[in-house]
Amino acid sequence: MFDLAGRTAVVTGAGQGMGTGVATALGSRGAHVLVNDIDSDRAEMVAAQLEADGASAEALPFDVTDLDQVQQAMAERRIDILVNNAGNAGAHAMRPRPFAETEPGEWDAPLAVNLGGVMNCTHTVLGGMVEREWGRVIGIVSGAGTQGVRIGVAAYSAGKGGAAGLLRSVALEVARSGVTVNSVALGLMSNTEGGEITADLAKGIPTGRLGTPRDLGALCVYLASEEASWMTAQTIPLAGGSITS
Ligand SMILES: NC(=O)c1ccc[n+]([C@@H]2O[C@H](COP(=O)([O-])OP(=O)(O)OC[C@H]3O[C@@H](n4cnc5c(N)ncnc54)[C@H](O)[C@@H]3O)[C@@H](O)[C@H]2O)c1
Repeated sequence: MFDLAGRTAVVTGAGQGMGTGVATALGSRGAHVLVNDIDSDRAEMVAAQLEADGASAEALPFDVTDLDQVQQAMAERRIDILVNNAGNAGAHAMRPRPFAETEPGEWDAPLAVNLGGVMNCTHTVLGGMVEREWGRVIGIVSGAGTQGVRIGVAAYSAGKGGAAGLLRSVALEVARSGVTVNSVALGLMSNTEGGEITADLAKGIPTGRLGTPRDLGALCVYLASEEASWMTAQTIPLAGGSITS
């Protein structure tokens, strides 16, 4: 079960963090992994690490917000699995503020990467998947987008909620074509285990710990697999119990 041999997967923003975990997990199940990141050095490093671990991988750097770059990198390739992972809260991650205190010009960047990037990448590969009657599209979204949060990242929430809605509609459009489309709504994740800050944050999570790239990788392996062919149009919480719908 969950054998991905013969499949080619793109993971966007895989140069660190959650994306690296997803790329590693897909590679470990036999997929050929195209490691995307806007930072080409990081993409090269992760691809080299996957290869060193015995997986098949290559770096595919591009900026998901630039449709020309996205098309140039992917339009002519056979992509079976797309994981839309690249995203961030942009300036609001460093300086969270209530929506009323933000300036309209600040909304563009979070929408461009979290929603525009998903549109660009999904649109570029979807036609080929439908034509070949097989494909898996996965969006990495957030409880901030599906439930909302009051921590001063509303534009990020809009991008993530938009991506989840986009992918649910796309899923229904292609549901008869062998292509599934789902999102994973993440709760609080960590790249590292332990530490004081992590322990403090973990107190509010029912399972008592933050999620890891490995947790996300395992779910993506399932969603990317043949066995998940009846799972589509869903936004699946992966949050240690802290997101329930
Ligand atoms: N970490 C969390 O707690 C958490 C929670 C909810 C959702 N998420 C989502 O999960 C995804 C991964 O999160 P993470 O914590 O690993 O993020 P991260 O910031 O550690 O890594 C994101 C990677 O994406 C790349 N990237 C950024 N913009 C890009 C672009 N325009 N084109 C291509 N690559 C780009 C970055 O260079 C970086 O390597 C993001 O979409 C994030 O919004 C994370």
